[in-house]
Order: sequence, then C-alpha cells, then structure tokens
Amino acid sequence: MTTDLRSVPADRVLDLGLGDPAHPMPPVVSDVLRKLADRPSLGYAPPGGLPVLRRELAEKLVRVNHLDADGRGVVVTNGASQAIAATLAAVCAPGSTVLLPEPGYPAYRAVCRSLGLRTVGYRVDEAGPDWDVLERAASGAAVLVWNFPANPTGMVADPAWYPRLYALLEAHRQLTVVSDEVYEELCFDAAHRSPAAGAGASADRFVSVFSFSKGHAMTGFRVGYAHAHADLAARIARTHYALSMSVSTVSQLCALAVLRAGDEHPAGHRAALLAGRDRLVTGLRAAGLRVETPQAGCFVWPDVSASGLDAETWCRTLALRLRVLASPGTEFGAQSGSRARLSFAVPAEDLAEAVRRIGSWAAAGWSADHAPADHAPAAQGGVR
Ligand SMILES: Cc1ncc(COP(=O)(O)O)c(C=O)c1O
Repeated sequence: MTTDLRSVPADRVLDLGLGDPAHPMPPVVSDVLRKLADRPSLGYAPPGGLPVLRRELAEKLVRVNHLDADGRGVVVTNGASQAIAATLAAVCAPGSTVLLPEPGYPAYRAVCRSLGLRTVGYRVDEAGPDWDVLERAASGAAVLVWNFPANPTGMVADPAWYPRLYALLEAHRQLTVVSDEVYEELCFDAAHRSPAAGAGASADRFVSVFSFSKGHAMTGFRVGYAHAHADLAARIARTHYALSMSVSTVSQLCALAVLRAGDEHPAGHRAALLAGRDRLVTGLRAAGLRVETPQAGCFVWPDVSASGLDAETWCRTLALRLRVLASPGTEFGAQSGSRARLSFAVPAEDLAEAVRRIGSWAAAGWSADHAPADHAPAAQGGVR
C-alpha cells in the first residue's frame, strides 16, 4: 500500500466516518469462495449456526476468552448487530429499560427504539463507568449493555472494575449484561479480558457478543456470534430464527476457515491499524487538538474545542470544505458535543491526505471559509 500523497486526488472525499476496515479480508476466504462456486446447491444453515462452527467457536471462547463455553451456548448471527438485537428481543418486554454506555455506539439506541425499549445512559470515562448511575438505575433495568473495547473511545476495561460489576448483578438478579466485545482482536496497548470469564455464579447472566467484522476485516460477510448459558442461548436462537432463519451458509463456511487459519491475519491487520492510529493521533495533536491515544479499536475521539467550533460545525465544515467525513460526538451521546470520531481503518494514503487537509485547516485558523489551495472543492453545496 503506497503512501504517495499524489495518488489521492485533491478533491476526493475521504471517508473517516465509518469503521469499515480497509484491510484486505483473510486470504483463506477466497479459497473457500472458489470451492463453493462449484457446488451444485447450498441449503439453509441450521438455526443457531452450523454445528461445526458453533463447536469451534466454543473452543475459541474457552481458549481465548476463558469462558466456560460449549457449542450449545453459541448462537451464530448476522453480525454482532443481530446478536444484540436478538438478545434484547429475547430478554426484554416492550417498555423494559436498557442501560447504555455514553458515549456509546449509536445503533444500541436505534435498536432499543425500534423494539420499544426505554434507555438510560451511564457515563464512561477513563475512571470507568459511572457506578452511581448504574447502581441507581439497575433495579428497574432488564439489560446492561457493556462495551469494551469501546466505540467510540477505544478504551479497554480495567479488570479492577469487574468485582463491582459482579456485585451489581448479585444485587439486581433480574439484570442481564450484554457484553459487546467486537473489537477484542484490535487491542494495541492493553489486553482485553471478557467480563463473563471471572464472574463465577453470575457468569450465566452474561451474553457475550463477538464478530468477524472488525478483527478479521469481514464486515460484508455479516457473521457474529453470541455466547450465553444454554437456556438463554436457546431463547436467543429462537428469536434469531424468527428474525432471519439463519446466517448465510457461504459466510459461515468462510468464518470457519478464518477461525481455523489462526491469528496471523488479525495480527497483520492490527499492525496496520496501529500505524494508522499513531499517524492520526500525531496529526491531530500537531493541529492543536486534544486527543487521548485509543488503546484499541479503529477510532480516535478528539476534543475539537481548541478550534473554537462545536463538533457538529467542525464535522460539517470538514465535510463541505475539506471533503473529509467524520462523525460528530453528539451521535454518541448528548454530552459529547465537543468530540468527533474519526476512523483510522482507512487506506494509509487516505489517512495521510486527511491529516494533511486537517493540518492545513488548523494553519488557516480553522476558518469556515478555508479550502486548502490545492484542493478547492470541486462543487459547492455538499458532499454526496
Ligand atoms: C461496538 C460495536 N458493536 C457492534 C457493531 C456491529 O458489528 P457487526 O458488523 O458484527 O454487526 C459495531 C460496528 O461498528 C460496533 O462498533
């Protein structure tokens, strides 16, 4: 992959708004797809997933995540998205309360809204979750969504927080934790530990959610999986069946091959992301913005207030004048109006060009009229 800036046309829109890894998918996937092309037919996969995939995922959950797992507790879903939606639908009744991290992944709120669920946000910062809010709100809640490594902050949970989480579950026996661990493979500076692993008697109150999307750069295959104790897993599998019957057999066979191929691909992917992270953090700091170095994931979460702009204006100007897409913090929670989220899971040359454009904007005093001389917008009036 070249970082020659001349390879990026000056007026090209650079999309740092989504976390869709630019890294190539694992090579073993192409072999599986070629072989499947010669099969005369391919039927439905069984509900809950191909038995061999469920079994081997359970082995991975034991080996990597130290969960007490077997295939009966694994449900293969259309991405982690469907694992979360099916769990909420299986566990909650309309009007139930769900506790959501703030800042947090916007789809949590969207799925709760579509299922008629009430949400209560709890702040998460470097010191951890806001336990006061959690302890107050837990008595009326059906589900606590827990997301580490976190989107958008890239924070990894400190295992020192876990005893308090287990105590919360002990005190509120109606509560189920959905632990969204889709960024587990993308840890740079801290190790991820699955909270269900040390939960003892509370372990059966966790639904642990994983995905092939991020760590294996396979977003388009839509393979995720949930692990829960066997009874809860059966309820989630029934809901998943009602929603979509099963996950594409093609995608499941590709996921199985990737699982068997071991860690080589995530390690290469992680190294490429680490270089991108450092480039983006360094570039934003050079532009005068405050930004913590994310420990994991594929996003940085700078505070843009040094620009004199709120995040919505900063992102809008960045899109319309500099043709770089980023997400304003308000999409992740009401209290994040000074933050923006930018992805570094993009081609290295796009990232270098985005950093250059942001640097030139900072050098021009963050002027709303700024368009760097060498890439005046091709058309006024917005980014298509
Ligand atoms: C925290 C989090 N959970 C879940 C998902 C959805 O993952 P999947 O592609 O497996 O549905 C995303 C995607 O961006 C995410 O950031």
